[in-house]
Amino acid sequence: MSRMNGTAPPAPTADVQDHLATQLTTRTATIGVVGLGYVGLPLAMAYAAEGYNVLGIDVSERIVDQLNRGVNHIEDVDDEELAQSVQQEVFRAESTYASIGEADVVFICVPTPVTQHKDPDTAYIEQATEAIAQHLRPGQLLILKSTTYPDTTEGVVQPILEAAAAPQGLTLGEDYFLAFSPERVDPGNKEFTTANTPVVVGGVTEACTEVAALALEQIVGTVHRVSSPKVAEMEKLLENIFRSVNIALVNELAQLCDRVGGIDIWEVVEAAGTKPFGFMKFTPGPGIGGHCIPIDPYYLSWLARKYDFETSFITLAARINEEMPFYVADAVMRAVAHSPVALKDARVLLLGVSFKPNVADTRHSPAERVVQVLRKRGVTHISYTDPHVSEYSVTVNGTREPLPGHPLTAETLADHDVAILLTNHAAFDYEMIAAHAPMIVDTRNALRDIPCDEEKLVVLGSGSF
Ligand SMILES: NC(=O)c1ccc[n+]([C@@H]2O[C@H](COP(=O)([O-])OP(=O)(O)OC[C@H]3O[C@@H](n4cnc5c(N)ncnc54)[C@H](O)[C@@H]3O)[C@@H](O)[C@H]2O)c1
Repeated sequence: MSRMNGTAPPAPTADVQDHLATQLTTRTATIGVVGLGYVGLPLAMAYAAEGYNVLGIDVSERIVDQLNRGVNHIEDVDDEELAQSVQQEVFRAESTYASIGEADVVFICVPTPVTQHKDPDTAYIEQATEAIAQHLRPGQLLILKSTTYPDTTEGVVQPILEAAAAPQGLTLGEDYFLAFSPERVDPGNKEFTTANTPVVVGGVTEACTEVAALALEQIVGTVHRVSSPKVAEMEKLLENIFRSVNIALVNELAQLCDRVGGIDIWEVVEAAGTKPFGFMKFTPGPGIGGHCIPIDPYYLSWLARKYDFETSFITLAARINEEMPFYVADAVMRAVAHSPVALKDARVLLLGVSFKPNVADTRHSPAERVVQVLRKRGVTHISYTDPHVSEYSVTVNGTREPLPGHPLTAETLADHDVAILLTNHAAFDYEMIAAHAPMIVDTRNALRDIPCDEEKLVVLGSGSF
């Protein structure tokens, strides 16, 4: 592989693009992946599986060290596959950017959180781009995958690259390439994986789109090209806002069903789901979690505010979804009130603390908010059980507090006054829960097919909540 870092004069445009295309189709290209988390590591493994050399960069030395020893930290990645990739030297991880110039294609998969005031925080993208820019050379393609607001690729990433490219006389779209391609990975989803989930890509120029699409086509069955990075950035936000709004809708209807009584939202949703067109099933729950749905919509509302535009759906959906943990906490308070125990002595057990079933990801999980609300209302004994989460802590009054964890046993259940079912993990023994928990607040309707004493069970949206 040629190493042109900076000094070599740029080759004529078509040559640069053709050369990269050839490297991609002959699998001689080196793939760089910046950020080796839920998005980056599966992506790195997908290219390694196709025979590419993959260089992973992560600022976390712990993660880099683990990965280089073949130790996996992402559930969707196969332990064996990672170990083999390391052993066969097709994948290696580094904690600095010193070798990034080796990569012909660089994917940026770093976090995009919000600030305390829910404004976008693109600092990780900027830091990563700055570091990559220092090693920019002709023939490189950069694809941003982190979810962000429209214009980040052209307004944030592009100027950083151009500042580094100018002294070398490199032109974007001719000598090096830039595109945005949002990530669609759904951790825990066994049916839709990288290979069979179509992806969208929009380049800064047509050449950027084409070469980025070619790079993606090496690991994904269908690549949908759009006319610009902005369209691709907006498309991703539409996907996530769509989920947020529909979850909020069904959460609101669940509360209405509880108010009215005699109508079970779960039965309603199941019935509506029989319509083969024009309806998509969403189910209620204790709130939204993960790194995407609670955060990404704010990226768009922030952008909208800059244009004196109010994104009403985003605001309304966030309000309803963010209220759900309070609604659940109220139900727990009522459950305790029906028991012989005083609130301050009540022992509450959280069943599941990850934000969705069968994964270990607890980021922004509604469990944390439920704990905070219960603590505020005087409940002190709160512990959890989760087969996927070995340690769990929550922020209470500004301090991070570990929550006691227990295995799910008949004794654990009997030792608590109320069990709150927050995450419907497949590994839970629901019959045991129904048999041994003195009171159950079920926010997922997980006990629907399990015989259970009605007196001790309340189900969100069923009228009993
Ligand atoms: N998790 C998902 O299901 C999902 C799905 C679609 C899109 N996304 C988006 O993908 C992006 C990444 O999310 P994730 O869930 O993989 O995050 P993550 O926290 O699991 O992984 C990000 C990794 O980037 C590393 N990192 C941070 N700054 C870095 C830097 N400057 N250089 C190198 N490495 C750096 C971190 O150490 C971490 O290991 C976010 O924008 C997210 O919104 C996530």
